[in-house]
Amino acid sequence: MINELREVNGLGYFLYRSTAAQRLSGGDTQDILRSARHRNQALGLTGCLHFEDGMFFQWLEGPKEGLIQVVELILDDDRHEDITILDQGALDVRRFQDWRMRFSDKDRASLMDWFASSGKSTVRPKDYAGAVVAFLVSIAI
Ligand SMILES: Cc1cc2nc3c(=O)[nH]c(=O)nc-3n(C[C@H](O)[C@H](O)[C@H](O)COP(=O)(O)O)c2cc1C
Repeated sequence: MINELREVNGLGYFLYRSTAAQRLSGGDTQDILRSARHRNQALGLTGCLHFEDGMFFQWLEGPKEGLIQVVELILDDDRHEDITILDQGALDVRRFQDWRMRFSDKDRASLMDWFASSGKSTVRPKDYAGAVVAFLVSIAI
């Protein structure tokens, strides 16, 4: 599943989408963020987590070893399911340099509205990962 990440030397990134477990509450999201930020800090990882309509979208970046360690934890976490990997690979420059894990939700910015206002009523699957990243970067100011 994460073979491309294992090939990376140096900095890597991982982008996925998942569905929150039914029982997930706002408090659970806070718990996730608290431990995420703690570990990300320790491992030098940065990124962004967006939550909208019961779905998570997350971009994680950092040194390969730590990144794989955390991605394995995340893939195994039963607080979400139907995890779809959108993209992974090597990275030259971090996109979320200043964020141990930025969090946004629909109140802050809506991915679906952003897709709609980007002029395309649908985003082609081929362009989907790129569009999600562009959205995450656009709100991380
Ligand atoms: C949607 C989602 C995003 C997560 N993001 C991170 C993350 O960026 N970094 C991290 O260390 N853990 C993240 N986690 C939590 C890990 O899956 C794992 O539960 C946690 O790291 C365990 O650490 P703890 O024992 O300190 O709670 C995430 C979990 C979920 C459900």
